[in-house]
Amino acid sequence: MNTMISVTDEREFLLSNARISYAFRASPQGILEHLYFGNHVSGAAGLAASIRKTYRTTTAEFEGVPYYHLADTPQEYPLFGTSDFRHPALHGVNADGNSIFTLRYDSHRISSDKPALPGLPSARGGDSETLVVTLKDAVYGLTVDLNYTIYRDYDVVCRSTTITNDGQHTIELLNVASSCLDLPADDYELLHLHGTWAREFNAERIAMPTARCVIESTRGTSSAAHNPFLAVMEKDATETSGRVYGTALMYSGSFAISIEKGEFEEVRVLTGINPFNFRWQLEPGASFNSPEVLQVYTDRGLSSMSRTWHRFIQDRISEPRFAHSARPSYFNTWEAAYFNVNETSILRLADRAKELGLEMLVVDDGWFEGRDSETTSLGDWQPDPGKFPSGIAALAKQVKQRGLKFGIWVEPEMVNEKSKLYQQHPDWILHVPHRKPSLGRYQYVLDYSRADVVEHMFNQLDELLSCGSIDYIKWDMNRLMTEAGSALLPAERQLETPHRYILGLYNLVQRITAKYPDVLFENCASGGNRYDLGMLRYMSQGWPSDMVDPVGRLSILNGASYLFPPSVLAAYVGPSPNHQNGRHSSLQARFDAAFFCAARGISLSEADLDRDADEIREGFAVLRESADDVVNGAFHRVFHRANETCWQLTSADGNSVYVGYYHVLSAPNLPFKKALLRDLDPNAEYRLTKNPASTYTGAALMHSGLALPWVDVLQYNPELEYMDKGDFSTCILVLEKVT
Ligand code: DGJ
Repeated sequence: MNTMISVTDEREFLLSNARISYAFRASPQGILEHLYFGNHVSGAAGLAASIRKTYRTTTAEFEGVPYYHLADTPQEYPLFGTSDFRHPALHGVNADGNSIFTLRYDSHRISSDKPALPGLPSARGGDSETLVVTLKDAVYGLTVDLNYTIYRDYDVVCRSTTITNDGQHTIELLNVASSCLDLPADDYELLHLHGTWAREFNAERIAMPTARCVIESTRGTSSAAHNPFLAVMEKDATETSGRVYGTALMYSGSFAISIEKGEFEEVRVLTGINPFNFRWQLEPGASFNSPEVLQVYTDRGLSSMSRTWHRFIQDRISEPRFAHSARPSYFNTWEAAYFNVNETSILRLADRAKELGLEMLVVDDGWFEGRDSETTSLGDWQPDPGKFPSGIAALAKQVKQRGLKFGIWVEPEMVNEKSKLYQQHPDWILHVPHRKPSLGRYQYVLDYSRADVVEHMFNQLDELLSCGSIDYIKWDMNRLMTEAGSALLPAERQLETPHRYILGLYNLVQRITAKYPDVLFENCASGGNRYDLGMLRYMSQGWPSDMVDPVGRLSILNGASYLFPPSVLAAYVGPSPNHQNGRHSSLQARFDAAFFCAARGISLSEADLDRDADEIREGFAVLRESADDVVNGAFHRVFHRANETCWQLTSADGNSVYVGYYHVLSAPNLPFKKALLRDLDPNAEYRLTKNPASTYTGAALMHSGLALPWVDVLQYNPELEYMDKGDFSTCILVLEKVT
């Protein structure tokens, strides 16, 4: 019995849970018209009436139907060239050489399961219902299935599209959006996440222009330049109020989110694979699946949108085996030793890690044959005999005998020119004829559109993991795609290479993670260069940035938190001065900046460990106490300003509230500051464990605020425990619920 999806005799479709509804209908002409996405409505009655008809000069009436202009009609999957002049969801060329198709409603079906998308990652179903609406073009045999899933407990609608060629001739696809969301005319603002290496996830908020703007990647990976995420919100929406429509694409390649405010001021959001540099030959009988898009709606502001994403990602995207478990604290060798790793040093570090109370030793780059620098050896995944004479399996065993887990770094999509693999198979890289391929970090990208390359890499990884002693893999990817052609594809299919690459990548990560389900995988791409829901579907945590300086990380984590929960974030305490921006900071600040990430570790030289052992041991002892809460708690951005940031995390049982306060540059004569906390029990009492040990009601914490510690050098109140004075001072305050 379907309880969340209903269809009327007038062909009005309504998907609802107790809080949100999504509605559309098939018009008398068979066009799928979007009606509504917003708070729960009990039926579709009245939603269609909002579509008004008027005479419009300089536009066209669809097939001559009086007053029916697709240019002002909100649609579910619009096409171009038949009276809608905005960018379309689907664009292609038929056997007659033109791009005119008309999709009309044909049929629909509803199921209580959520079928997986062939070859692509998708959210898991469960207490959800799925509606598939089939549209057909009668002339060229083009069939489009629009898939919609609604969940009872999450305010998320999942969408994807399957295009099938039921005709006699090849159709050339130039654009296949996963979804279109036509929003009503209004004053909107946009929030998106942009960046670059070591400065990822900057949240930019802009007014919606009357124009088209595109958030995109053309780099072959989803990229740090723009994350495949967008929030469209009513003007002046805040963290706690206002309508917000969130969109996230579960895809790891070049994508585009096009936002177009047209002449009639409706806003069209098209999300999917980037149509730029894309062309796909759809032969008779073949199907093409788009990646999945997730859409969130709330009328309670950005914080509510993020809570929905966080719960959904943890419960329906992350691997259940890891999603809710505390992650092992770890020692990572990268900034401690770079390429200078060997059996003796690793075992010495393992002893140190154990002593410091850590739970895992991770050998980062530098362990495989000849890998003494970044110029060489990617592709040859055998341990270097000089550095690791007993091999990796034996090393892992010895590390585990010390009571630690063992992890290792790989970069399976790449090859250096200086490698046995490249010498044997120079045609295994992405390349085009007559051109010298570009290099990035001295490496080429392997051609994962080829099944033989994917198979080879599966076997390499299988050989490494089959020893059974590896608990964790850091999967890195350190360059973008250029000259993205394949030696195996014919000329007319060359522009299919980047998407075929991503399909090959998903095939590999799906198979290897399924074969080794107990291995925890961490997704990394020079930090956050491919930090997306596609990779997170297979890898339960990710390395959001190579920036580990505590101040440098503040805006990165703040931005990432619009979409990603603490459960998928990794951080480590790195060296001071920081290797990326040269900043000096205290160990305290570095620990506090890692606090709101589930996977916490350290990467420090042996000299640093010698000097700071006691403080490090104490730091991890404190972190351990909050490990479960950080994975499962509710995270809130309290504020993030130029000079200070405040975050809150409330444990799943509501009994512990952690407040992180980060003050960047000090100044004299500062004001007293308060933090208005969120979502507490107004009638409960909460005891602040320090500064000083005082008690607040939940209502006082939410409406009057928690008094924040002060960094002013003229501090004098003897009852208060102050933050460190000076620049970059931080603290984590803990409140315990007492009633
Ligand atoms: C880039 C990653 O982001 C770093 O953490 C490290 O693993 C290096 N690659 C190793 O080459």
